[in-house]
Amino acid sequence: MKKEIIAGNWKMNNNKEQTLALINELKPLVKDAKCEVVVCVPFTSIETARKALRGSNIKLGAQNVHWAPKGAFTGEISADMLVEQKVKYVLVGHSERRQYFGETNQSVNARAKAALGAGLNVIMCVGETLEERETGKTADVVTKQTLEGLEGIEKDGLKKIVIAYEPVWAIGTGKTATAQDANDTIAIIRKAVKKLYGRNYAKSIRIQYGGSMNPGNVKELMAMPEIDGGLIGGASLRAKDFAAVVLDR
Ligand code: 13P
Repeated sequence: MKKEIIAGNWKMNNNKEQTLALINELKPLVKDAKCEVVVCVPFTSIETARKALRGSNIKLGAQNVHWAPKGAFTGEISADMLVEQKVKYVLVGHSERRQYFGETNQSVNARAKAALGAGLNVIMCVGETLEERETGKTADVVTKQTLEGLEGIEKDGLKKIVIAYEPVWAIGTGKTATAQDANDTIAIIRKAVKKLYGRNYAKSIRIQYGGSMNPGNVKELMAMPEIDGGLIGGASLRAKDFAAVVLDR
């Protein structure tokens, strides 16, 4: 049985004091969670979060990682630097990275490989824009993102990857994909995984839905057979809401 995974993506929110307060409020609320729980915090909060999470069932995540082990890459962070801070998960290819920071399927792939090489678990994000959806390109876009994002990654690496399907138009907008649409698109992503790794790996990989997921819609989304978890933005900044999502699944 796969364990479902609910991850919070704090994005560029919370200073150290706020990090400590949010984690301390969250810990007791989710201590009996049946799913895996992750919080992906800003780099500057990693150390505070690591200490605050000690002994809890919440895993520490980061939001990006560079592909090189070290060197002249101003503003970037290496996989080993994350490992040193006991980070367990890292996001790659979030749509905000693709949209504002020129991230491509190839850079996403390189970042994922570096993270896996250092022993990190990866949450690889894919998803179509509104224009792509409205012009009928969703299947092509998510298939290409998946195939190119995973290119050259061995089966052992795949076991440490979670894919997050995040339709760009549903992020931070309050608009959620219908549970059926999310389910159908995730099935397309799974088909792309099957093409690369075969049926068993496609079945066992965990694929999350992300995009305005909240306590009000988590049940309906998670009831869908293809959806194995959630990647939560806005609602993960409020302990009670994030805990409600975690516990409602
Ligand atoms: P929201 O939950 O705020 O829509 O953000 C989703 C997201 O981008 C998580 O990575």
